[in-house]
Amino acid sequence: MSHPLSVVGVSGSPTHPSRTTVLVDEVTRAYAEASGGVARTIRLAPLLPELGAGPFRSSLSPTVTEALEAVENADILVVGSPAYRATYTGLFKLFFDHVGQYALVDKPVILTATGGSDRHALLVEHQMRPLFGFFQSLTLPLGIYASESDFADYEIRSQDLRDRIDTAVARTLPLVRSDDTASRLAEPEFARPDAF
Ligand SMILES: Cc1cc2nc3c(=O)[nH]c(=O)nc-3n(C[C@H](O)[C@H](O)[C@H](O)COP(=O)(O)O)c2cc1C
Repeated sequence: MSHPLSVVGVSGSPTHPSRTTVLVDEVTRAYAEASGGVARTIRLAPLLPELGAGPFRSSLSPTVTEALEAVENADILVVGSPAYRATYTGLFKLFFDHVGQYALVDKPVILTATGGSDRHALLVEHQMRPLFGFFQSLTLPLGIYASESDFADYEIRSQDLRDRIDTAVARTLPLVRSDDTASRLAEPEFARPDAF
């Protein structure tokens, strides 16, 4: 790959400060550091009023359009949402409703989430992974879930969580590298099935 990897994080929390943003930011920077890439975290909270402008991409503001394009052009995507009613937030879904149907095909995606307790940890597997299955993304096998007790004053205070982040990066980065996904995405003849 000739350019440094672009590692883009997306935090679907409507609040600020946000544990989810802290987690997404940490994981995004960890992947960028390990891959020699460039990290950027996009907070969806400030985009909320503009995301509701209409169902079509043409109704959206330049700010939202730029965020969508950054996600679509990322080499590695780190996505995160707080658990709201046992799934990702409406804000998270609203943003990804506007992402191009085939823009994330084969893109490596790291799934992360936070919640009030560990009770809904499987939202990563049961809600987030199917969403990115629709996009035909390459969701990496290790998701990262954190509960409120892993944070204090909106900072990660749990060594266990830090270890899980390190493990996820160490075990999944070789998959990203060996796949050379970014190069394949650039191929114009890359097959795009038409059906939903
Ligand atoms: C409306 C609402 C619904 C929530 N539903 C759940 C839930 O179903 N399961 C859970 O574990 N936590 C739930 N929580 C707690 C949040 O997921 C948790 O506090 C999370 O870490 C907040 O992330 P943030 O700091 O990024 O906003 C809910 C919080 C709110 C405000």
